[in-house]
Amino acid sequence: MDDVSRHSIVRITVEKRGLEPPEVAVCARMMVDSEPWITLGRDYDASVKTLTAPSKEVYVATVEGEITGFIILNMQGGFVGYIQTVCVAPAWRNRGIGSKLLAFAEERIFSEVPNVFICVSSFNEKAQRLYRRLGYEVVGELRDYIVAGHSEILLRKTIAPLRDFQGNARGAD
Ligand SMILES: CC(C)(COP(=O)(O)OP(=O)(O)OC[C@H]1O[C@@H](n2cnc3c(N)ncnc32)[C@H](O)[C@@H]1OP(=O)(O)O)[C@@H](O)C(=O)NCCC(=O)NCCS
Repeated sequence: MDDVSRHSIVRITVEKRGLEPPEVAVCARMMVDSEPWITLGRDYDASVKTLTAPSKEVYVATVEGEITGFIILNMQGGFVGYIQTVCVAPAWRNRGIGSKLLAFAEERIFSEVPNVFICVSSFNEKAQRLYRRLGYEVVGELRDYIVAGHSEILLRKTIAPLRDFQGNARGAD
């Protein structure tokens, strides 16, 4: 890593944004051009839909104004605390941005509920390793869930049983 990159990463910021259309395009393109979404057959329009759904919370990581990654959370409806998507631009991977986005998401989710859920594709071994290192445990395997021949593995990170959770009282509903 060169000095400029090292310097920049110190100033990564994560913020919630109602994304402007060009920013939606940047994030959607980031997904469409990357695994696991290539293998999963996710197209541009579906990515835009997820990024702009009013029921989702989108947080972006920026370095000097450039979007370097993003994370999408589900904080409404039946599956509160689900991390729908996390993605870092290829040129910025392996520099801690993904971990920072995940830490930010966990803090946000654990302020309301005691469980964070995320799915990871069976072929995405690098991401599985990252999640394991961050304390996520396998809940189960959804075989042939998105495409035939690959599973989605549901993971959970927890800080308390629902009944013991002292957050803002949503957990025990
Ligand atoms: C997974 C991802 C968000 C991690 O972000 P990051 O900024 O690269 O992660 P960090 O620098 O904080 O941590 C590095 C870890 O990320 C994982 N990682 C690195 N490159 C990866 C890649 N191309 N795909 C998946 N995981 C990757 C590795 O586990 C790595 O740790 P290691 O030292 O054990 O190899 C990012 O690599 C990415 O966007 N990958 C492609 C999309 C993806 O797989 N998203 C997750 C879907 S569940």
